[in-house]
Amino acid sequence: MVQTRPRVQREVVSFVRRSARMNPSQEKAWAEHADWVLRVPARHTTTSVAPDARVDWASVFGREAPLVVEIGGGTGDVIAAVAAAHPQRNYVAFEVFEPAVASTLSKCARAGVDNVRVVVANGVDALGTLVDDGALAELWTFFPDPWHKKRHHKRRLVSRPFADLVATKLADDGLWRLATDWEEYALAMRAVLDEHPVLVNRYPGWAPRWEDRPQSRYEAKGIAAGRTIYDLCYGIREGGRR
Ligand SMILES: C[S@@+](CC[C@H](N)C(=O)[O-])C[C@H]1O[C@@H](n2cnc3c(N)ncnc32)[C@H](O)[C@@H]1O
Repeated sequence: MVQTRPRVQREVVSFVRRSARMNPSQEKAWAEHADWVLRVPARHTTTSVAPDARVDWASVFGREAPLVVEIGGGTGDVIAAVAAAHPQRNYVAFEVFEPAVASTLSKCARAGVDNVRVVVANGVDALGTLVDDGALAELWTFFPDPWHKKRHHKRRLVSRPFADLVATKLADDGLWRLATDWEEYALAMRAVLDEHPVLVNRYPGWAPRWEDRPQSRYEAKGIAAGRTIYDLCYGIREGGRR
């Protein structure tokens, strides 16, 4: 008799699994700052987050402070610089790629900050599970993978279901800052976010470049390739959650 295995439906995620080999300086940073990396129980894949996982951010940081989350921060150019400039806030990076996390730890150490923590996990799962509704001062999604082929658009991070999740997590005065160098994705972001019933564009159109945002690795690549950078910034519409 031929045994058939039950088919497991593969979840559509916004990232690809890549070799997680670290260079020696990343290995060193990973070892030296392991206490900045939070471990949370997984669901079915290593980057998933179990639905009952919880993190008490006040005890992790040893203080109550506004919570800022970055999803897909890569090598941490932005979070390390902004956390250094605004030490009164708590910053959390959700990033799936361990070598990039190690570089983030190293940049934070060089910037002398102790208000950044990292969770190696799918940011969609982590945001949904580890952040209380209405608790988020800011969410950043800078230069998310553009997934430029049409058949891959379903893998894009910025989508209506993700916007619904962000709309439940942002504080009433919270901000969702986005940037991309991929014009067609920028327009798709505007189309989804401008028509969202709870979110509101904080600017009449594109946002001005956020002055605190240093140039990241991917932004530099986009500029070198001659692409235009688009910034976006959304908040919660007054009365939008009623
Ligand atoms: C194109 S890179 C941009 C990195 C960085 N923001 C920059 O500007 O240099 C996208 C990053 O997002 C991460 N990523 C993609 N989807 C993710 C998800 N769902 N959760 C966490 N990280 C994710 C990737 O591993 C990668 O580091």
